[in-house]
Amino acid sequence: MEKVLVVGAGFMGAGIAQVCAQAGCRVFLSDTSAEALERALAGIKWSVEKLAGKGMVAEAPEIVLGRLSPEQGLQRAAEADWVIEAVLEKEDLKKEIFAELDRLAPGGTPLASNTSSIPITRLASATRRPERVLGLHFFGPVPFMALVEVIQGEKTAEDIFDRGTAFVRSLGKWPLPVRRDIPGFVINRILFSTFRECVALIGEGIASPEEIDTGMRLGLGWTVGPFEIADNAGLDTFLLVGQAMKALGEEHLVPGSDLVERMVREGRLGRKTGKGFYRYTEDGKRVPWDADKEKP
Ligand SMILES: NC(=O)c1ccc[n+]([C@@H]2O[C@H](COP(=O)([O-])OP(=O)(O)OC[C@H]3O[C@@H](n4cnc5c(N)ncnc54)[C@H](O)[C@@H]3O)[C@@H](O)[C@H]2O)c1
Repeated sequence: MEKVLVVGAGFMGAGIAQVCAQAGCRVFLSDTSAEALERALAGIKWSVEKLAGKGMVAEAPEIVLGRLSPEQGLQRAAEADWVIEAVLEKEDLKKEIFAELDRLAPGGTPLASNTSSIPITRLASATRRPERVLGLHFFGPVPFMALVEVIQGEKTAEDIFDRGTAFVRSLGKWPLPVRRDIPGFVINRILFSTFRECVALIGEGIASPEEIDTGMRLGLGWTVGPFEIADNAGLDTFLLVGQAMKALGEEHLVPGSDLVERMVREGRLGRKTGKGFYRYTEDGKRVPWDADKEKP
């Protein structure tokens, strides 16, 4: 049974831990916040039980959940076969964590990042094993999104890239190989440039988020619209990713207005706070866009 240490128990870390446990891995889920760990484990329990009820998880929920344990440090890196970092999108924080993981994990252990935008080569530079650092970029909500970008940094060894690809397949996911280590990789460059135009359109009053999301679903066959994606991912995360991309010289991919910044200041983070581009009821149902109340 492979052992996986997931660092960061937020929206993505919790989802990654869940799919690893569902695939039979022993999972250590680490966060500095006890509250985040508690929320993550409660969310995973709820999700695994729901999926098991629909026949989408093969084993009994208690078996899957029994493979997960919460951790407040990184010491488990010493026994992990895989380490996947999923903390906030801040380069300095991620580098600090990679340096510590490098000290704690045996020399051969691959260290992966779930970063949305920061080139893997930059994170790998904080370690003495850049050839064993790669990107495993999952999409949220992780239990439902099949895609994982497997990113090769400038120094990532071919065998580590191959192992990453095989690991993604073993989780039942679809690996998209990204062999050029550019900011935002492939899918987020497309998502963010689309989102930039969407934000400009609502800012100019040309269409509402709901009209754009509906249009993208009915006209282009997207299953969720860009504003629904942003609300699901968290506007705080979108803001951090946008700031990271700007710092890397990719401002042409980031919304030109300060709308997302204002929304984050006002606590409109998306689903996690019950309001973002949309509002949500207590049980998570989306309330239709109301042009009088939801001014961009
Ligand atoms: N939200 C998405 O849809 C999405 C999709 C793909 C990739 N990502 C990327 O995944 C990463 C995490 O995003 P998220 O949406 O889960 O964020 P989040 O805010 O939900 O979770 C981040 C977690 O990191 C924890 N953390 C902060 N400092 C830490 C430390 N020193 N050690 C351990 N844990 C620490 C926080 O307590 C928090 O629980 C980011 O790099 C983000 O860009 C996000």
